Amino acid sequence: MADRVFCIDFGSAFTKVALRADPSATTELIKLPGAWGLGGSDFCFPSMVAINRRDPANQRCVFGQDVVDLKTGNGIDVYRNWKKWLFQDVSDSATGSALSPLMTLLHSEEFHRLAASYGVSPAEGRFLRQIISAGEELHGKPATSPQSLEVRQQQFAGKLAAHYFTWLRKQVLEACRKLDKTGLRYEDIPARVTTPKFPGENPGVESLCQALKQAGWQLHPEQPVVTEPESNVIGVLTSGHNVITPKQKIQFTDMFAKGPFQKVLKDPEDHPAYRAFVVDIGAFTTDLAAFTLDTGGKTLDDPRTGYVITQKSVPIGISQLDEQIQAAVNAVSNERGEVMAQLTAADWEEYRRAVYAQSGKPFRIVGINIALGKGVDEIPIRETIHQFSQNIAAEVAAFCADHDPVGTEELILSGGGSMIPVVRDAVLDAATRNDRTFFRFHGAALPKSAGSTKIAKLTDAFARGGSALGGASLFFESSYY
Ligand SMILES: Nc1ncnc2c1ncn2[C@@H]1O[C@H](COP(=O)(O)OP(=O)(O)OP(=O)(O)O)[C@@H](O)[C@H]1O
Ligand SMILES: [Mg+2]
Repeated sequence: MADRVFCIDFGSAFTKVALRADPSATTELIKLPGAWGLGGSDFCFPSMVAINRRDPANQRCVFGQDVVDLKTGNGIDVYRNWKKWLFQDVSDSATGSALSPLMTLLHSEEFHRLAASYGVSPAEGRFLRQIISAGEELHGKPATSPQSLEVRQQQFAGKLAAHYFTWLRKQVLEACRKLDKTGLRYEDIPARVTTPKFPGENPGVESLCQALKQAGWQLHPEQPVVTEPESNVIGVLTSGHNVITPKQKIQFTDMFAKGPFQKVLKDPEDHPAYRAFVVDIGAFTTDLAAFTLDTGGKTLDDPRTGYVITQKSVPIGISQLDEQIQAAVNAVSNERGEVMAQLTAADWEEYRRAVYAQSGKPFRIVGINIALGKGVDEIPIRETIHQFSQNIAAEVAAFCADHDPVGTEELILSGGGSMIPVVRDAVLDAATRNDRTFFRFHGAALPKSAGSTKIAKLTDAFARGGSALGGASLFFESSYY
């Protein structure tokens, strides 16, 4: 049982942390100390880490505002989007030592980066290594049994995670001390962490928990982990509200914002069923969830008996779009490709907002006379964003098709990727295929009207911070039921 809890939504690009300071307190997002957030969001802690190796005897990690303007080179290594290393599938990866020079190249970090910049997928890279390995064996060379790049990346990411969460803890506790909640010992409050929902068990979940513990976080005693799609749906539908009865029992109905979900709980005869779909487009994954409440027309004493959640995360996100865009730009102009290869995380934040929105506004770097996103790279960028949006749309269409329509349905669009108009429109189109209709669309950047479907604007806090807010919800506190 935990009366209060932190929820850490460890995002590939940005980590968000929420605090439920009491059983019935409204959950709040922790703001960055000093409010130096990127892109105007003061609760988005950059997840990137740099290692300064200039002094080999004194290598050190760099985080937060000290890292967003850094570039790899001159003894500095910048790691962005390393979350995927924790969760990648290493089942086909060999372990051992001896490596031919060719296999060493194919397992190297440099090869991996180059392949990504040409749009070569990790699966294609693995396939190439398998072919070369088979060829080497045929020619009598010793079978290569390297400790694969994937295994090394996973181990390295575990170490980075421990350093990162130590830094994060310091930031969070410092920010909490400025909150006006006297008497709370923030360092004793346990934490829950969100993870993607991949099929089967993923060792990344355990690595993440280990790293948190190493960093001094005490994990929630009963439910230390919640999946991103589920926490997102709860965060958005409850708006972070937690309500208990005088007898300290969860007041489930009142936790959810007014709307069709509450109607189903209060008047099941006339409104027997409800569903919310969530599409959360992040930097690493697109998280899909369907939260269905089917009362069968009867009042439910415990709503948990009537609801079912189906969910999945697919590894398609904005970091992948960034790699594809970089490869597409490089293919039409080496000069532009080289400029893009030098962009810092802070530059990328601006670039995405200017260029992915396709508003016609280019992105410029001081001192370089090139308008990125306008000119020779304009059409390749448009085509790449279109293809990316179609890939997400295919996932959304298949996920929705797996769920026969019930009663009233709503659609929640969240994550930074949902702000890209072409992506947003492709998702709305995919979700409404086969004449599926929605009562309401929730999102931060929705079209002004959508036929008979109502539009509910999500603030940035819910569009980006929904998973952290939901993960700290009383909803996940079984002792209050
Ligand atoms: N208005 C915008 N236009 C384009 N891109 C945006 C916009 N706002 C945010 N983004 C980008 O969306 C991406 C995803 O952000 P988000 O915070 O949802 O990812 P995350 O939670 O870190 O990733 P994940 O959940 O997949 O691990 C970021 O790379 C961010 O730069
Ligand atoms: Mg996320």
